[in-house]
Amino acid sequence: MKTNRLVFAAIAACLSLVSSTFAWQRGSSGCHKPLPEVLTPGGPSKNLTLDSKSQIGTIVTRRFLTYLPENYSKKNRDVAPLILAFHGQTQPTWSMENITALSTPYFNRDAIVVYPEGLNYKSPGQQWLGDPEAPPSSVVDDRIFVEELLDYLTSTFCVDESRIYATGLSNGGGLTNLLACTPALNRRIAAFAAVAAAFYTDASLTEPLFGAGCDPHLSYGRKIPIMEMHGLNDSIIAYDGDNTPAPNTIPLPEWVAAWVEKEGCGDREPKVDILDGGNVTKSSWSCGGWKDVFVHYRIDKFGHGWPSTVWQGEPFENLRLGPTMWNATSVILEWFGRWKLEPVRELK
Ligand SMILES: *[C@@H]1O[C@H](CO)[C@@H](O)[C@H](O)[C@H]1NC(C)=O
Ligand SMILES: *[C@@H]1O[C@H](CO)[C@@H](O)[C@H](O)[C@H]1NC(C)=O
Ligand SMILES: *[C@@H]1O[C@H](CO)[C@@H](O)[C@H](O)[C@H]1NC(C)=O
Ligand SMILES: *[C@@H]1O[C@H](CO)[C@@H](O)[C@H](O)[C@H]1NC(C)=O
Ligand SMILES: *[C@@H]1O[C@H](CO)[C@@H](O)[C@H](O)[C@H]1NC(C)=O
Ligand SMILES: *[C@@H]1O[C@H](CO)[C@@H](O)[C@H](O)[C@H]1NC(C)=O
Repeated sequence: MKTNRLVFAAIAACLSLVSSTFAWQRGSSGCHKPLPEVLTPGGPSKNLTLDSKSQIGTIVTRRFLTYLPENYSKKNRDVAPLILAFHGQTQPTWSMENITALSTPYFNRDAIVVYPEGLNYKSPGQQWLGDPEAPPSSVVDDRIFVEELLDYLTSTFCVDESRIYATGLSNGGGLTNLLACTPALNRRIAAFAAVAAAFYTDASLTEPLFGAGCDPHLSYGRKIPIMEMHGLNDSIIAYDGDNTPAPNTIPLPEWVAAWVEKEGCGDREPKVDILDGGNVTKSSWSCGGWKDVFVHYRIDKFGHGWPSTVWQGEPFENLRLGPTMWNATSVILEWFGRWKLEPVRELK
């Protein structure tokens, strides 16, 4: 069996080499359709909705703020990348748009950006699956919403289906991780970047999601590009997972080690770069020909939030302990730009 696995791995590696020599770009079924009337390229973001089965057993309306970049084709015919940006618990979508600044030409000249909205199921406000306050997936499953959302977006806009990305803050960073854990979604999303992410332990939840529940089905050398950034002084989702108040989250070093193992990179030492005058420790794993496929930024003296040089107002400045000397959005977009999804070849 062992030799067979090795042979398959070798075949998979060759196929991936061959296909990456062709610039694989897939225009989605939405190309050439009339754009939704409310949206103008470069204009203000607008709420769109879809009828969703994510609330199990019923149809619920799900909302998402949508931005088209200035140069998006008015005729909806040139392919564009797509970024999903998931807000933190109780954070409005406009606020996620504001602190990431993903809807500004300064950072983003070509990608459609969608800020999905969590259901406001219970006080204190909008949550995503994976928050201890959110209902279990048997009641609301946001992974279903994200599948429906991708179906809607690719059939409405002209999306390059090899360049779909997901990012999220806090509870939204947790959901970003759950999408990477979900085979149906990690085959559609090219790279994942979570910031100050909440990965609750299995004991903190009524069902295992981030620990035993995370099975991304990686085999035959397949890898998922994942990045996470976390403040060492995060008082909401503690770096060591020991939260006050409880419940606990998975300590970041443990979460990183578990993913690196899943990626088949467990035998590798990371490349470590000290950045930002000593405040940032970047650990990057490269393996199987995938350079920097897993990247973790540990940010000293930083709290809970989205690193940026710009003043974000409250509650963000209090939580993150002030602005940084760098912008997370630049780092994430530059790294996203390196990844394109290749058609998945499943060897049976
Ligand atoms: C989108 O919906 C949210 C939530 O209902 C609302 O607060 C916000 O004002 C809406 N944004 C726009 C641009 O209509
Ligand atoms: C964020 O909101 C502040 C305050 O309203 C505003 O001055 C700033 O331009 C906004 N930034 C972005 C990127 O939307
Ligand atoms: C749009 O495209 C034009 C022509 O390629 C370019 O000059 C301009 O800078 C672009 N604008 C943005 C916001 O990307
Ligand atoms: C960050 O955490 C360290 C270690 O717990 C502590 O000594 C330091 O005062 C904290 N810094 C800030 C700005 O909160
Ligand atoms: C390190 O972070 C602290 C707190 O954000 C900041 O005051 C300091 O200027 C940073 N150091 C450098 C070299 O950027
Ligand atoms: C960070 O982004 C802002 C725009 O949001 C920009 O004005 C600023 O120059 C950027 N800073 C760095 C260090 O890149």
